[in-house]
Amino acid sequence: MKRFMFSLLMLAISVPTMCVSAQQKYGAGPLEFSSLKEWKRVHRPAIMDFFLNDVYGNYPQKQIEPRFELLEQSDKALGGKAVRKQVAMHLEGMSTPILLLIYQPANVKGKVPAFVCMNFKGNHQINIDPEIIISANAPTGKDLGTDAPRGAALSRWPLEEIVGAGYAVATIYRGDVDPDFDDNFQNGIHPLFYRAGQSKPDAEQWGTIGAWAWGLSRVMDYLESDKSIDHKRVAVVGHSRLGKTALWAGATDERFAVVVSNDSGCGGAALSIRKVGETVAKINKSFPHWFCDNYNKYNDNEEGLFVDQQGLIALIAPRPVYVASATEDAWADPEGEFLSALYASPVYELYGKKGLSVSKMPQPEQPSLDGDVGYHIRTGKHDITLYDWQQYIKFANKYFR
Ligand code: GCU
Repeated sequence: MKRFMFSLLMLAISVPTMCVSAQQKYGAGPLEFSSLKEWKRVHRPAIMDFFLNDVYGNYPQKQIEPRFELLEQSDKALGGKAVRKQVAMHLEGMSTPILLLIYQPANVKGKVPAFVCMNFKGNHQINIDPEIIISANAPTGKDLGTDAPRGAALSRWPLEEIVGAGYAVATIYRGDVDPDFDDNFQNGIHPLFYRAGQSKPDAEQWGTIGAWAWGLSRVMDYLESDKSIDHKRVAVVGHSRLGKTALWAGATDERFAVVVSNDSGCGGAALSIRKVGETVAKINKSFPHWFCDNYNKYNDNEEGLFVDQQGLIALIAPRPVYVASATEDAWADPEGEFLSALYASPVYELYGKKGLSVSKMPQPEQPSLDGDVGYHIRTGKHDITLYDWQQYIKFANKYFR
């Protein structure tokens, strides 16, 4: 009997520490836990549930597998330095395919690692290459685009540098997956997954960022099927809203071996609690389609968040993650981005990995590349530049080369 009472007592003591009730919160500080086992069993699932139910929304249960059709291939791209492939990813029920554009090093033996990165305005804006097929969904304007002519985003896509470093680049246009405006989820991929009678996602179902992340996972499906790419060495990279997307894709799809967030800001790497620059209320007002409806619970109520964005970074552990900021990007709160990386670091250490190797925000152009959590702040504006890519290549090289 005594023993039974003792066991009951022990249970009463241990239970509250082992499960996380809705009232308990992790808040916005460092994520420190006593063991890896506890992180994996209790905290990781609770944090994942929070991001699924209250931030980006759950992915649908229904599986739709794309059918891949190679539309074009050339080994004379980028002046002969690259092989270009263009693949249509057909989804049953969608009238237009998601167009995947790949440049990979020419004349190499063996499989190459890759960067997967979604683009803002259509595949044709990443380079002046006249062979890039223009998506029916892309904003082309008159004469192939006042809005996004060929090569409009050339500076964001230093292909020669990336391919020259031995990497493939695989990109899709965000609008091929889901348009970036509030259309009440009538276009894009959401309707493909509605149950009978459903006309928009439920409050805990995915918004547009979730849909984009799903699209990045379908790129990974293709890469797994392409024998010239090493799908075990794939990094997902994204800038700004697509940086938020890259983090979420990395958190939910463990096939991405390295994850990079460039100036992702609010709803990405930045801590929300600081309310510096963009806030939860502001982002939900301007972009009501990005997150799930439940995220509105945190408008002007950042203190109510079960965990802040450092939890998102921790979900990627033990896979290497890199966060980057820019000095003139106050809207994205560089210090908040840095602190998230720092506060997720203890989870990396539980896995025997090395967290961020600095505990104070570094000076501009002083990248912190030693740890499995990397960080830099670059001088300049909200953008993704050659300098940023050079750090991502160095970081990826630590794992892929
Ligand atoms: C807006 C938005 C940000 C976003 C950015 C972008 O500034 O408020 O959250 O990151 O657009 O995607 O460029």
